Amino acid sequence: MNTLNWSELSFGYIPTDYNIRCVYKDGKWGEIEATTDTTISLHIAATSLHYGQEAFEGLKAFMGKDGKIRIFRPEENAKRLQNTCDGIMMPKLPVELFMEAVKKAVVMNKRFVPPYGSGASLYIRPLLVGTSAQVGVKPADEYLFVIFVTPVGPYFKGGFQTTPVVILRQYDRAAPLGTGTYKVGGNYAAGMLAGEKAHQMGYSAVLYLDAKEKKYVDECGPANFFGIKNNTYVTPESTSILPSITNKSLMQLAKDMGMTVERRRISEEELATFEEAGQCGTAAVISPISKIDDIDENKSYIISKDGQPGPISRKLYEKLRAIQYGDDSDIYGWNA
Ligand code: COI
Repeated sequence: MNTLNWSELSFGYIPTDYNIRCVYKDGKWGEIEATTDTTISLHIAATSLHYGQEAFEGLKAFMGKDGKIRIFRPEENAKRLQNTCDGIMMPKLPVELFMEAVKKAVVMNKRFVPPYGSGASLYIRPLLVGTSAQVGVKPADEYLFVIFVTPVGPYFKGGFQTTPVVILRQYDRAAPLGTGTYKVGGNYAAGMLAGEKAHQMGYSAVLYLDAKEKKYVDECGPANFFGIKNNTYVTPESTSILPSITNKSLMQLAKDMGMTVERRRISEEELATFEEAGQCGTAAVISPISKIDDIDENKSYIISKDGQPGPISRKLYEKLRAIQYGDDSDIYGWNA
């Protein structure tokens, strides 16, 4: 029996029963296996350890009122992982294999899918690491694909509430033609120092400006940024942000709510014009933004005057959650 307090879960790691593995060796992928071993044994010269030849994904499974478990858009994660594989020279994991492994990971840990009404979900974390030895900077010959799952609550304490974010001009997360668009661990390591500074100052995340001109909005911590004004959903066009599956879904929902959707460059000055703004991603879902401070320039953009999430962000959040938990019919065919 689980004794977890589902509605009190934070975004942390809780051990579950099984994780799933699949090895790439001799130019091909092996069988999918389940194990209770939560450790991996790596060669000391593994490329993942030295040269960051590593990728990961993040997706979620939800328990509906009907007792059915729904996994949100796993095929999109499979395709994004393939894109990352191309970006850092790893063998592509076939979409079907990814899907089978994700489903197995969820089914074998079914008792950890938080119950309907708790607001929690089962976070699914696939990762792919180069395992064979290299000292020269080149790709490994062997790889390990792992999926573990863990039940999670909101990424930001308090859930759907506004938080402030900060522009820290002395830090970049990724170069314009670098790895920012791939889901590699290095991007997250690169953001840890700035992120920690932001947290110490009471902000939930760093809103990065583009690394080249420091003029345009880029990634928002480990999530995408969006702004709303004049019934328009605006999100940055950039070569250094992660193509968020949540953002893609929100763009579709916004369009079907009769909004205009624009993916284009957003100048810093434009921040002053948004009626609402938020961070979005699998972990963050939608985290509305209260204000954005550019501390080096002594500027502050107040997004929410009363500190409450805006009505459109709330509607988008509720629509997305309703599809994920199976409360609304899945007209888009997003759930697996
Ligand atoms: C996700 O949103 O799933 C991510 O991978 C971001 C991570 C920092 C939790």
